[in-house]
Amino acid sequence: MKSINDCYTLSNGVEIPCIGFGTYKAAEKDNADIIRMAIDAGYRYFDTASFYGTESFVAKAIESSGIKREKFFLTSKVWKDEMGYEATKKALERTLWNLKTDYLDLYLIHWPLPTPDSKDWKELDIATWKAMEELYKEGKVRAIGLSNFLPHHIMNIQKNCEVEPMVNQIEFHPGYTQEAVLRFCRENDILVQAWSPLGRQRVLKDALVTELAEKYQVSSARLCLRFALQKGVIPLPKASAMERMKENQDIFSFNIEETDMYRLETMPQTGWSGEHPDRVRMVLN
Ligand SMILES: NC(=O)c1ccc[n+]([C@@H]2O[C@H](COP(=O)([O-])OP(=O)(O)OC[C@H]3O[C@@H](n4cnc5c(N)ncnc54)[C@H](OP(=O)(O)O)[C@@H]3O)[C@@H](O)[C@H]2O)c1
Repeated sequence: MKSINDCYTLSNGVEIPCIGFGTYKAAEKDNADIIRMAIDAGYRYFDTASFYGTESFVAKAIESSGIKREKFFLTSKVWKDEMGYEATKKALERTLWNLKTDYLDLYLIHWPLPTPDSKDWKELDIATWKAMEELYKEGKVRAIGLSNFLPHHIMNIQKNCEVEPMVNQIEFHPGYTQEAVLRFCRENDILVQAWSPLGRQRVLKDALVTELAEKYQVSSARLCLRFALQKGVIPLPKASAMERMKENQDIFSFNIEETDMYRLETMPQTGWSGEHPDRVRMVLN
């Protein structure tokens, strides 16, 4: 990978850029300016979700850029209260309407369980995935995948469904790399994407991260994003200013040595959001 719009190939042959722009909280009031700025900064891959409320801002920003829809890679997600066969199909229609497009590049199930005590999560995931498979076969979405799924959740889909998931989007950053999920996904040809690749700033001042940032003469943010890239994980950083948007693309001019990669992979857990699909959210200091 040499620049942000160089691509990986998903298991179904669809090309996906190696960095995307995260749009959670990437809009203020009724304002698409931040997303438009990200387009001007060069991003073409946008990660949104019905839950974020930013789909319509992505549409506005694309429209105002004058760049053709086909030049973008757009991901959205089915929220917890949109799961189930019929509800998922309706959710995609709303998402397409919000995004002012007739297809998505990637559609994900946002979480495997609506709540940690959901007893019927297996059936619900299967029904949701069956709808996704149909949307995929109809060409309304070019690829389908999961988010926040752990291996036991993914195996339920694999056992009961036809189309294998192509992507899994999980929390990933130095201090929380979910190695078991990465290994499982690699073995099953599922591409992993990193949400909160900067740990929402929580890891940027960590002692090891700052030590290595200094060693490679880069910012902590660039180090975190390069770390994801070298792990073969697609980072989806969110930023609000042009300077940071550009800085977050500048990750192709240095290489983290193998021993330093191991240090980052094995550092004590830090910066975790407290979110886990099978548990009530932990409130951390
Ligand atoms: N699938 C899921 O369940 C899920 C969950 C969470 C997030 N996501 C996706 O992942 C995306 C990214 O995650 P995130 O927004 O939680 O966290 P993040 O990208 O790790 O961190 C964003 C924070 O880092 C700051 N930042 C950005 N670039 C920086 C830089 N170069 N130096 C210093 N600070 C920098 C941003 O500040 P400013 O904005 O002030 O510049 C913002 O406060 C989301 O937008 C969303 O698309 C998915």
